[in-house]
Amino acid sequence: MGELRHAKVVGLNAHLHFWGMRHRAVGMRILFLGDVVGRAARAAIVSQLSDLRQAWKLDFVVVNAENATSGAGLNAAHAKAILEAGADCITLGDHAFDQKEMMTFIESEPRIIRPLNYAKSAPGRGARIFSDTRGRKILVAQVLGQVFMKRPFDDPFSAVDQVLRSHPLGGSVQASLIDVHCEATSEKMGMGHFCDGRASVVVGTHTHVPTGDAMILPAGTAYQSDAGMCGDYNSVIGMEKTEPMRRFITGMACSEG
Ligand SMILES: [Fe+2]
Repeated sequence: MGELRHAKVVGLNAHLHFWGMRHRAVGMRILFLGDVVGRAARAAIVSQLSDLRQAWKLDFVVVNAENATSGAGLNAAHAKAILEAGADCITLGDHAFDQKEMMTFIESEPRIIRPLNYAKSAPGRGARIFSDTRGRKILVAQVLGQVFMKRPFDDPFSAVDQVLRSHPLGGSVQASLIDVHCEATSEKMGMGHFCDGRASVVVGTHTHVPTGDAMILPAGTAYQSDAGMCGDYNSVIGMEKTEPMRRFITGMACSEG
């Protein structure tokens, strides 16, 4: 219970400052929650998100949940719980299909977005237009970076460019949010400037550590290199710390015996 309480406070409050950067041109209040890691973070969202929607008069909520099920992927039951708690959209990441049932579930649940450039044959979609509480259109898209990632992915910049050209702000959509999921802050920042003036929000995920660079870019796009995680901070990026510490300290991938 102590861990659950800890996750409630740290996981959700870490994103308050980002929420404050809502796209003012249309007065849309968007909450973005970074990588949900494991049971404690899921429980925090289920118990608090509905109240936060009311208290903060939120118009739209996006939750990155690619690590919500045991820290690796997202299963159908946990996706349903997060959506029922008040998320309008769930984004995933490089672990999008670690839980195999997501391969089929994503086809039946349009509120879940996987990366645009994940794989040619991947099920689901990497971008979709949603409606907020007042019927305004918001584009949500997710893209994977290429730097320091364990697997190669297609060019994220051309993928995002195509989507933003198809859905210009003030045209088919009143707001747009790009979740850029990767390791390198330089690549994320490049994506922020690439989208500046064309997207309402560019926000990073994947590292589980919030960055202190929340800003409005010159042409008006709200940007933060990483929103950080919703999870237990007495951990190594949300995971129970003993095993990753052993690997770092010993330099060995497997324990003896
Ligand atoms: Fe990731």
